[in-house]
Amino acid sequence: MTTPTTDAPAVREEVLEAVGLTKHFPVSRRLGSLLTRTRPTVHAVDDVHLTLRRGQVTALVGESGSGKSTVARLLAQLYPRTAGTVRLHGEPVTVRGGRPFRAYARRVQLIFQDPFASLNPVHTVRYHLTRALRIHGNAGRTAADLDAALAKLLERVSLTPAERYLDKFPHELSGGQRQRVAIARALGADPDVLLADEPVSMLDVSIRLGVLNLLRDLKERLHLAILYITHDIASARYFADETLVMYAGRLVEGGDSETVTQSPAHPYTRLLIDSAPDPDRITGDAVAAGRERGDGEPPSLIRPPAGCRFHPRCPAAMPRCTTDLPPRLEVGDRPDHWAACWLYDPATVAAAREVNR
Ligand SMILES: Nc1ncnc2c1ncn2[C@@H]1O[C@H](COP(=O)(O)OP(=O)(O)O)[C@@H](O)[C@H]1O
Ligand SMILES: [Mg+2]
Repeated sequence: MTTPTTDAPAVREEVLEAVGLTKHFPVSRRLGSLLTRTRPTVHAVDDVHLTLRRGQVTALVGESGSGKSTVARLLAQLYPRTAGTVRLHGEPVTVRGGRPFRAYARRVQLIFQDPFASLNPVHTVRYHLTRALRIHGNAGRTAADLDAALAKLLERVSLTPAERYLDKFPHELSGGQRQRVAIARALGADPDVLLADEPVSMLDVSIRLGVLNLLRDLKERLHLAILYITHDIASARYFADETLVMYAGRLVEGGDSETVTQSPAHPYTRLLIDSAPDPDRITGDAVAAGRERGDGEPPSLIRPPAGCRFHPRCPAAMPRCTTDLPPRLEVGDRPDHWAACWLYDPATVAAAREVNR
């Protein structure tokens, strides 16, 4: 967590912003026609608003299947959106492949969960990093420039001395070293934004902290805006400045990480936190961890529940929760702490006070 200093700006510069980001995937025709006449869709992401700021980590937390990776892919412009806007440095951007995509990827880089799958097994570290530097025009003009750029990338991710790693193949590295190479490759673009999709969940417990500390170091030294996607809310507290909680395709709570994790407002966030400590969250994969959280299953995203999508599992559900979608409501304890939950409707709060009088 960064300690605010007197000269730090109160609000950091916005780098990447999503406004009303929405993605519905069509369901295969055969399954679709069995269910209904109209072609059904998976409501993977609905109306997501988020802002990534320079030098800040924003955590996106939720169970497996809640839409986190889809948000990352939409922000990376890997697939078209169903609705919504993505703004980079204030400019709305929509790109589909080709040169505009490369220009966008120079600013916004995605890191995947499984570094083994994201690196090509037949190529060395040198090849991967050289290619990234060349594609993004950061390889310099001479062989010496390239060597210097390679050494700098590996140094940034603490793989030193560079000569020890440059000619290694992915299988010759440990999981943590592979993820460091994947991060170095992303840095080869010299980006403003890193979208890190569960970057440590495939790694051994013992090396997770090292990789998170590396990302934090990059945030501080390179002033990167980082989206940290995780199913582990405890790591969000440790690592992120801001935390957003996602449930069944929608954001349900947001605020500074300390507040969201220590004074969770949304019943779903409370459930996530109460279900800790769960050692499987540290050792298991995302799917197992999501299932073992208990207290019911996430809903179908083909026909998501009306009103608040969490209402079928919610211990505090009220009649209106089954019909009316709750907007973002201020929780009231800290500025910027909000929950999409009718419990925080001023009218509900006032009525509860009446009852308690
Ligand atoms: N390409 C796709 N086609 C159809 N459905 C998809 C596709 N990608 C993701 N989904 C569905 O969207 C929902 C959200 O998935 P995802 O974003 O991967 O969640 P998370 O990363 O939180 O586990 C899931 O129900 C998933 O099955
Ligand atoms: Mg995912």
